[in-house]
Amino acid sequence: MTSGRVIHNLALVGFMGAGKSSVGQLVAAQLRFRFVDTDELIGARAGKTIPSIFADEGEPQFREYERAVVDEFQTFHRTVIATGGGLITIEENLNSLKIHALVICLWASPETIWERVRSQTHRPLLQTPDPLTKIRQLLAEREPFYRRADVLVNTEMRSVKEVVHHVIHQFRLARGHSSHQ
Ligand code: S3P
Repeated sequence: MTSGRVIHNLALVGFMGAGKSSVGQLVAAQLRFRFVDTDELIGARAGKTIPSIFADEGEPQFREYERAVVDEFQTFHRTVIATGGGLITIEENLNSLKIHALVICLWASPETIWERVRSQTHRPLLQTPDPLTKIRQLLAEREPFYRRADVLVNTEMRSVKEVVHHVIHQFRLARGHSSHQ
């Protein structure tokens, strides 16, 4: 752990379908932390869904909304933050999260991700004729960013309960080593 870092919060990052929201809600309940989801915050503020934001305003504007919510997290305490899958591909966002949060990346293979998301329709980046190829391509591009998280948790072959347990264990370890709580 970088010295001087103060771990107040826990941020979950990783690709679409990695389990950030479902794991995050369970982790928050067990830690008695608040749970926030960047997509939900952005959608509530814009008064529209994520697909509508992409369609009406474009991806660059969505990324700008993400940057704005990430800035606000610096004042948060005792919060589990689930982030949209592209959020930490902007370096400043990851650096900002690391100031106050332990950043844990949930990892899964393209095939597993596809299995998890194939019945869902709310992800504009996957509305293509060949979503699995798109997942492979995006995941390969983003892997270097995801690897910059503090902790990488492989969700393959693990139940949600096991992933939750592992995330909480890592968080408690990191808090033990950070300068304040
Ligand atoms: C995106 C992931 C989505 C959402 C948006 C863009 C991405 O969030 O932020 O559709 O760029 O990977 P989830 O990771 O929660 O699906």
